[in-house]
Order: sequence, then structure tokens, then C-alpha cells
Amino acid sequence: MAMERSDLSTRVLPKITLGDGTPGSLTAPPPPLPRDVPAATRAQERFRVTGNAIVTGGAGDLGFAASRALLDHGLEGLMIFDMNPTDAQARIDVLKSEFPEAKIHFQKVDVTDEEGVNAAVDETVKIFGSVSILLSFAGMVACGHALDFSSKDWNRIINVNTIGGFLVARAMARTMIQRGIGGSMVFIASISGHRVNFPQPQVSYNVSKAGVVTMVKSLAAEWANHGIRVNSISPGYMDTILNEGDGLDEARKAWLSRHPLGRMGQPDELSGAIVMLASRAGSYFNGADLLLDGGQTLLM
Ligand SMILES: NC(=O)c1ccc[n+]([C@@H]2O[C@H](COP(=O)([O-])OP(=O)(O)OC[C@H]3O[C@@H](n4cnc5c(N)ncnc54)[C@H](O)[C@@H]3O)[C@@H](O)[C@H]2O)c1
Repeated sequence: MAMERSDLSTRVLPKITLGDGTPGSLTAPPPPLPRDVPAATRAQERFRVTGNAIVTGGAGDLGFAASRALLDHGLEGLMIFDMNPTDAQARIDVLKSEFPEAKIHFQKVDVTDEEGVNAAVDETVKIFGSVSILLSFAGMVACGHALDFSSKDWNRIINVNTIGGFLVARAMARTMIQRGIGGSMVFIASISGHRVNFPQPQVSYNVSKAGVVTMVKSLAAEWANHGIRVNSISPGYMDTILNEGDGLDEARKAWLSRHPLGRMGQPDELSGAIVMLASRAGSYFNGADLLLDGGQTLLM
């Protein structure tokens, strides 16, 4: 918390509490997989997704593909937080028809609205009983020359891409800690949090995503003792609305001219990492950032 300079020398520093991995605690290793069942059952169990999830930006292209993947792997309840009810409804209709057994809901939430976020998380817990998986996809892009960026432009993008993700994670962590349940949080950062894109200038977006990568490491250290693992995925250029349009032809050519696979990623190509991080397969991932870009950053 911010404080006056004159109070610095009298403050007492708060301290991170670490887990100790003792059996029965929230940082204990998962029990061994059974050896007396077929290998296929064990394989399935390793990547089984249990419980309920909030997916912010779940009406968008990547969030939708990831939601579907969690449901494929056993997710019981899905709550989408998004600002776009029209796209959300269309996508929820698809998911409901594919997964009639699952509980699938949507709330119109702006992730920058602190009180709205708290209320929406409370409502989610009321509907599902608990929630232990967060996928944080809500985000926006902003390209432009640094010379033209105002503080208002900066505030908007940092508020949505970095602080908005934090607000949802904090509200969820509070309910998880209160109930004594652990879980997994996955933030979507970007290659832009690691390298400078070319040819498009986008300083504020790049900083917002570097902020996500660093925030994840801090939260991972701080919340581990509550059994909450926090990780991020940094995708490369994915084939979504963010990279569509004739106006981006030249940029797309530049991106792919130095790409080892010579193509953009498909939305479902994030799913393997998402499912791993949300299931017991990812039980020892904490504070990691998975660069998932087909090798783009090797030559970028
Ligand atoms: N597409 C890519 O190439 C790419 C690469 C790296 C990272 N990402 C990141 O992945 C995430 C999803 O991107 P996408 O390609 O699916 O884009 P998208 O525009 O299809 O999805 C973003 C979703 O976030 C929602 N959203 C935006 N602001 C919000 C707010 N304040 N509150 C709640 N919801 C809000 C939008 O309504 C939309 O449904 C973004 O964070 C993006 O920065 C995308």
C-alpha cells in the first residue's frame, strides 16, 4: 500500500507466507495415479479438469476455444465474464449444445470495474458453490506511435490488460482462501511482453503484457501456500479477429517472413497448455510463463 515518505522508516514490512508441502496441506503433491487401472484411464486422469471455472474474455476467439477445451476435459461449471453479450450468447449456445451436462453461464462484466468484478465472482460462487480455475483472456490491443500516446491511452490499456486481470484473480483468491480450496489461475500474456513487435509500434500493449508476466510471478509466490498456482501463457500471433483485415496484410507478411513454422497459430493450439495448467498434469507449474508461439520469438 502506498505511504508517505516520512512514514517509511517506521513501517513494518508484510511477509509472504510460504507453503511447506506437508501431507494434507494445500501445497502437498497430488496422490499417485492408480497403477491398477488401464493406462488410458491413468492418462485421462492426469489431464482431467475438475470443478468450475471463470473465463474472462470467454466470448472472444481464444477464450472460447479454451473454454471448450476445459469442458472437453471434464469441467463441470463454466462462467464467462465478458463485455460483449452478443458474441457471448452465440458462443454459449454452441457450448450448451455440445456439453448438455455442464453448467454454462455468462455475466456481463467489465474487468476494470472493481465492485462489478467482486459482485460477479460472488454470484459465480452462489451459482456453482465454488470456483477454482481462472482463465484470464479479457484484453484489448492498442497500436500507435509512442509520440501520440496520452496518459488516458495508457490508463485504458493497463487497466484492462493488467489491472483488470488482477481484480478478477483477487476476488477469486479471496473466495478460494475462505473455503480452503486451491486451484489454478492462467493469465494470457503475449510474446509482446517479451520482445518488441515489428513493424507495428505498440508500447502500451507491450508494457501491459510484460506487467502480466511479472504480476503472475508475484501472485504465484504470494498465494502458493493457499494451494493457488498462478501461471501465464504468452501466445504468438494467433489467427483471431485481433490480426484480421486487409489493412494488416503487410504486417502479417512481416510477421511470417521470420517465423519458423511460417504460419499463425490456431486458437485451439493454446488448449494443450491450458488443460495442462488447469489439471493435475500441471501441479508443479507455478509462476511459469509458457512461450507458445511456434518459434516466432526465436527470430523476431
Ligand atoms: N490473438 C493474438 O494473436 C494474441 C496473441 C497474444 C495474446 N493475445 C491475448 O489473448 C487475449 C484474447 O485475445 P483474442 O485474440 O481472443 O481477442 P478477442 O478480441 O477475440 O477477445 C478478447 C475478449 O475480451 C473481451 N474484453 C475486452 N475488454 C474487456 C473488459 N474490460 N472486460 C471484460 N471483457 C473484455 C472482449 O469483449 C473479447 O470478447 C487478449 O488478452 C490478447 O491480448 C492474443
